Amino acid sequence: MSTVARTDASEIAVHWKEEEYIQPSARFIGQANLTDPGVVERFTEEKFPECFREYADLLTWDEYWHTTLDTSRPPFWKWFVGGRLNASYNCVDRHLAAHKNKAALIFVPEAETEPAHALTYQELYTRVNEVAAVLRDFCGLTAGDRVTIHMPMILELPITMLACARLGIIHSVVFGGFSGEAAGLRAADSDSRVMIYADAYYRNGKLIDHKANADIAVRTAEGEGQRIEKVLVWRRHPGQDLTNAAMVPGRDYYMDDLLKGYRRVKVAPVSVESEHPLFLMYTSGSTGKPKGCQHRTGGYLAYVTGTAKYYQDLHPEDVYWCMADIGWITGHSYIVYGPLALGATSVIFEGVPNYPDAGRPWRIAEQLDVNIFHTSPTAIRMLRKAGPDEPAKYAYRFKHMTTVGEPIEPEAWRWYHEVVGKGEAVIVDTWWQTETGGFLITTKPALDPMKAGSAGPPALGIFPVIYDENGKEIPGGSGKAGNICIRNPWPSIMQTIWKDDDRFVRQYYAKYCRNPKSTDWRDWPYFAADGAVLAPDGYYRILGRVDDVINVAGHRIGTKEVESACLTVPQVAEAAVVPVVDEIRGRMPTIYVSLKPGVADPQKVSEQIVATVETIIGKIARPKGVHIVPDLPKTRSGKIMRRILAAISNRMDTGDVTTLANPEIVEQIRKQVQGEGPVEMQEGPEDVKHFGEQE
Ligand code: PRX
Repeated sequence: MSTVARTDASEIAVHWKEEEYIQPSARFIGQANLTDPGVVERFTEEKFPECFREYADLLTWDEYWHTTLDTSRPPFWKWFVGGRLNASYNCVDRHLAAHKNKAALIFVPEAETEPAHALTYQELYTRVNEVAAVLRDFCGLTAGDRVTIHMPMILELPITMLACARLGIIHSVVFGGFSGEAAGLRAADSDSRVMIYADAYYRNGKLIDHKANADIAVRTAEGEGQRIEKVLVWRRHPGQDLTNAAMVPGRDYYMDDLLKGYRRVKVAPVSVESEHPLFLMYTSGSTGKPKGCQHRTGGYLAYVTGTAKYYQDLHPEDVYWCMADIGWITGHSYIVYGPLALGATSVIFEGVPNYPDAGRPWRIAEQLDVNIFHTSPTAIRMLRKAGPDEPAKYAYRFKHMTTVGEPIEPEAWRWYHEVVGKGEAVIVDTWWQTETGGFLITTKPALDPMKAGSAGPPALGIFPVIYDENGKEIPGGSGKAGNICIRNPWPSIMQTIWKDDDRFVRQYYAKYCRNPKSTDWRDWPYFAADGAVLAPDGYYRILGRVDDVINVAGHRIGTKEVESACLTVPQVAEAAVVPVVDEIRGRMPTIYVSLKPGVADPQKVSEQIVATVETIIGKIARPKGVHIVPDLPKTRSGKIMRRILAAISNRMDTGDVTTLANPEIVEQIRKQVQGEGPVEMQEGPEDVKHFGEQE
């Protein structure tokens, strides 16, 4: 494992034990999509950007493009310019000739008493068309309109997304676990006038009433000046009333009622320009306001299709299960768009991995003959803890597995490989982000050896670099960490932040742009806000976020968003949110607040803070702890020193605090959080150690 010591402000020295290489099995290589080592030659920097033709050619274009990459207005790159296509056609219609009776999606309900339901490509086609007819004819939506979809993991979610794509409507899916308020704010930001909900879903053995969130979302959006004209509600069991929330006449409509009027209606796919936005996905950044990452149709679809084929090794005859939620980018790219564009079979699971017990995922794998499995380090750690011997009890056989979303420690990786993968499945550890649309660093599963804890070499056609704070390149093998950047554009890089071009440039390009006037892409490295180290063999190891984002179980939580939520509690004077290491979830937010004078019941305020964070953001941002302290440590200019609070929460050295305006508070908080006795100090992981430094 790594031990890391800071040497000066811009360089971090990293020493860790290199893990052994593990080779893919001959059995895997024998059937893999990508076995020609010559592929590397096809994707060299000299061949860029034309190399990405190979991915675009996996799609069916209505009109072929004339320019692969247009760099005339950096960093607003344009891909496959002049091309026209439809994403829904590519994911559905074009498979009918060869695969119409093959399962496109298999829905696995949470309750084991409810059977899995396979939807063939023909059935998917029929349903997508009918829903598109509702959106077009009942809602009056046309290409370029935005629709906010706040739904759980049920078949109707990808059906609705594909119906939007069929019409060129830009969908904005909000993770089902986000609160109604969070969904309403995102609907307002995207000017959606239609929201799509589900009435209820099953999770952890309980029926969750989701429709109530729709009412909150509509109210929140209206508070922001955005009227929601229609709320379409999918029923988990058509015809049955599962929600206690009333349907508002003239605004709320059950989809199963509406669809009766559109039976077997066909809607021609609308051919859109390659650059037409396909979707928005809101994600957290370093300010209080989530940003709408805007993804294009042609470049995005080409890249996720190519990468799903080469790195996930999807073939039409595979049964592929990605256990992520479609409400995150992983689900968009690698449950819906990539797999369906390839004509694969993709599993959608409603429930949580460890309900009713930690054997559930392996029972699903056995029953459905899943042979490609995709999950996160958090799920791996959780399943390992709850049932380390469970996988061996089930007769499934994975050929391939993915890990994504957080750094994975070699120990968890090895359990995944030996126990879940039964020593046979190849593993890809894929590093990427909401902004990047698809994988950026990963091994090529049949060509590169695996190394536990390392994401691997860059993906084909991706040219990363690690810079120090001053823009000096940190070479591979130097044992030093820095900020990972990508030197070149690629087809699935986001187009912009919805309605905020300036923030897009500031956030991702301003830091290392060499010449803002230049139209040469070489002057515009993309800043990913992750720390990384490059080993002598060209493998990257990702250390975690370098900004105010906390990676909770692979999901991004903006500390500023949580702080803003805390400040809405009237008794709270000041709030600071810092990451604390969690054995299962990687990191969790911990809250420090000081109260206004005269508050009688701090315990009650604590509970109120937790409830408020859950209401404004969602349960996913629930803090690991709330510390009500007399004051927060501050510099003489009044800046809250979050770095010191992170050190206290993680039992790390707080460093020199004598220059603070209130140095005495540090020891007071330390005792309150850690207790009176001596405490064994920890080294602490990189992201926590440097948390708050950029402020
Ligand atoms: O810190 C990195 C971490 O997740 C962040 C991106 O989060 P999000 O946009 O929600 O997308 C998650 C799914 C792609 C990154 O900035 N991250 C993602 N994949 C890895 C990772 N950290 C280490 N290893 C990975 N494989």
